[in-house]
Amino acid sequence: MNNKNLDRRQFIGAAAATSLAACASTPHVFAIGNKFARKLDGPGAVASHNAHNPTPSNPKQKGYSAVTVAVERMRAGDKPVDSAVVGAHLLEDDPYETGVGLGGLPNAEGIVELDASVMDGTEHRAGAVGALQNIQNPAAVAIAVMRRTNHLLMVGAGALKFAKELGFKETDLLTPESRKVWLQWRATLSTKDNYLEDEEGGPISPAVKMPPLGTVHISCWDGKGRVGGCTTTSGLAWKIPGRVGDSPIIGAGLFSDDNAGTAGSTGRGESNILIAGAHTVVEMMRAGKSPDEACLEAAKRVADTCEPRLRRKDGTPDLNLSFYAISKDGEYGGSIIHDAPGGGDYAVCDGKGARHEKPVALFPA
Ligand code: GLY
Repeated sequence: MNNKNLDRRQFIGAAAATSLAACASTPHVFAIGNKFARKLDGPGAVASHNAHNPTPSNPKQKGYSAVTVAVERMRAGDKPVDSAVVGAHLLEDDPYETGVGLGGLPNAEGIVELDASVMDGTEHRAGAVGALQNIQNPAAVAIAVMRRTNHLLMVGAGALKFAKELGFKETDLLTPESRKVWLQWRATLSTKDNYLEDEEGGPISPAVKMPPLGTVHISCWDGKGRVGGCTTTSGLAWKIPGRVGDSPIIGAGLFSDDNAGTAGSTGRGESNILIAGAHTVVEMMRAGKSPDEACLEAAKRVADTCEPRLRRKDGTPDLNLSFYAISKDGEYGGSIIHDAPGGGDYAVCDGKGARHEKPVALFPA
């Protein structure tokens, strides 16, 4: 097949065809031309779906989405990394956004533990925090780690102490809603323990059976070749205390380099760390792949290397991951392992406004 002649539909079909190779764990290079690359119209942001919520639940958003705010900040002259963090704050502050900050779903003991990272692609500097408790805006702490310390990643009690020294206020991040879902999860764990379900507790949340991974990633490009990004999360709901996912791991949940581009990921962090996802995407763009191609290649690496216990009967990974990317020239794209009808789109904002777009799916629905 002459890959340069593929149209977008064929491209997605070709992605599906790679599933067979993925099941067999066959080394595979998915090479096509840059024909499908889309370009940002001026300063722009590419982000996880939740960064452009159609009905923001936080009144403070006043109809703005996180990607809109990030782009406004860049237009006002802020660096991409700072703009991404300001956008992420909107969602960290939203008590109804259950994957980050206030209202994020807690660990197995009912304690919210947050991970976040930032990277400045111009200065090649990064900061991150892991398993941080009681601080609503871990992305801001991550930027402080980058700018105010000689370190890159701080975790747990030390990260909390550092944040408090800088004046961050401690907050109980467990909202009445997230506490209720956690109690439901705990009560349905076993029929042999001493916890009974709340008889008036209402319907069981889907999060009880399928622990969600609601992360926010925002990658920014300032229209002049500067890039930066931020990834922030409460991680896997009901995780073992102390578990840290991919979001604060530079090269997995986030990587930014003005000489190539910026990328990030959301979804099952353990699987992403194993392929150094964001770094892989950026390096693919450095080597000439379009953002869609680079993101698809990362998805395919996960499918190729996924351990047997994490595979479905058809051989495909029984997990999902999304990748988001912007090249140094402002081309953008995204991929997802399994198409998620109605849920897998990613957020984009540029001179044409904020919107959702479809990622390239390795395994279309
Ligand atoms: N991607 C978020 C996490 O695994 O924690």
